[in-house]
Amino acid sequence: MTNRELVSLAEKAMENAYAPYSLFKVGAALLTSDGEVYTGCNIENISFGATVCAERCAVFKAVSEGKRSFLKLAIVSSSEDKTFPCGICRQVLAEFMPDGEIIIKNGEQEEVYTVSELLPHSFDNKF
Ligand code: THU
Repeated sequence: MTNRELVSLAEKAMENAYAPYSLFKVGAALLTSDGEVYTGCNIENISFGATVCAERCAVFKAVSEGKRSFLKLAIVSSSEDKTFPCGICRQVLAEFMPDGEIIIKNGEQEEVYTVSELLPHSFDNKF
């Protein structure tokens, strides 16, 4: 699975975004270590705090299906600028794919970051 293919699956997932409040659509596509892809989109709620981001949607779909090992996550949005994952999503990414790559694409721009670049010094104390 190339980065371009993963981005294109994220673009397809973005079509399902439910974003009537922000009008800001986001799509994500997550590649598992065993070669499967789980997609996600943002799903908003009139009680704004109940909104879930596209990234967490994809990760939680995969985890709920028993997947635990992830290689790459592609993120696209309806914005002209690159969309970086929010703080809560970064913590979720650090939990499930600390060594993973995040591909962020908008228009002609496409960049790859490690999760630790996006969330350095993440909370990971064992208790
Ligand atoms: N959103 C995401 O889905 N992912 C991000 O990385 C940033 C924000 C969504 C949440 C909300 O539906 C909309 O974008 C505006 O914040």
